[in-house]
Amino acid sequence: MKIIAYGIRDDEQSFVKDWAMEHSDVEVTIVKELIDEQTILQAEGYDGVVAFQQAQYQDAALQKMADFGIKYLSLRNVGVDNLNPSKVKELGLKVTNVPVYSPEAIAEFAVTRLMNLLRRTKEYNLKAANQDFRWAPQISKELNQQTVGVIGTGHIGQSVIKILQGFGAKVIAFDKFHNAEIEAQGLYVDTMQEIFDQATVITLHIPLFPETEHLLDAAAFEAMNDGVFIINTARGPLIDEQALISALDSHKVGGAALDVLEEETKLFNQDFSGKEIDYPVFKNLSARENVLVSPHTAFYTDVAVKNMVHVSLDNNLSLIKTGTANNLVTFN
Ligand code: COI
Repeated sequence: MKIIAYGIRDDEQSFVKDWAMEHSDVEVTIVKELIDEQTILQAEGYDGVVAFQQAQYQDAALQKMADFGIKYLSLRNVGVDNLNPSKVKELGLKVTNVPVYSPEAIAEFAVTRLMNLLRRTKEYNLKAANQDFRWAPQISKELNQQTVGVIGTGHIGQSVIKILQGFGAKVIAFDKFHNAEIEAQGLYVDTMQEIFDQATVITLHIPLFPETEHLLDAAAFEAMNDGVFIINTARGPLIDEQALISALDSHKVGGAALDVLEEETKLFNQDFSGKEIDYPVFKNLSARENVLVSPHTAFYTDVAVKNMVHVSLDNNLSLIKTGTANNLVTFN
């Protein structure tokens, strides 16, 4: 059995090698490049493909994969928004993801960034860099005084809720699908409007679908409490960035922590040292003292990366051996 794994970063190599040592009947080939029409040519003769990239998977590359008779694609991440569902279905590809590599990694990061916003650490750091050690005017807010609206109560949302409750925050939650434990705690509200009415902080933990794109748009911001804090560690396009900029300008939004951006693939996980950045929205947002931009790093922990590699390889091997696997993704 032969698996080809694309986009393997240096920090993933040892996890791939460990897995391969434990599966001596499988030949695993490591490719550093991401999947595209050219690199996919290397997959000829393999039984399955493992991949992880934020860039769109090109239809033509998927087509080539299918032409080589490869039906199994195992992603090392959770989001499948960069795969064209109709192409996947047309080719009859079986796709797996890793839905729970470490919800805590993302949840801990989301809460860390929220605390950074509430305690205004970016502003204090900027002042301290100029040897200005005065307290005022950066008086802070306490997490235990906040009402946090958690949108999305899957594994990550649930973990966020636990952490927030540990700090004494009041949590309310919204999701189309109710989780029994969250339900039992009576945290769900019925509408997004109730989140907007009550929350002083809103944190997003839902996938990107056509119907969730720009979930937070100008009308949504308008409906929120003045000075609300926004946390997005999910997907950039959940927020209309122009609308966010206007809401920051008008102080409707008091601060935002963004680990994801609408056009992040232009920048994130790339080195732009000394280079000009052509992404005005990024420049606008990251220049603000009450906005924290990070390069989609919430997931990036030792636990998560190991699980992403091992579980995706397990999934791919299971597909090859049995035609099915845990974590099979259904495309509608
Ligand atoms: C995911 O697992 O889908 C993530 O958000 C991680 C990522 C860097 C794409």
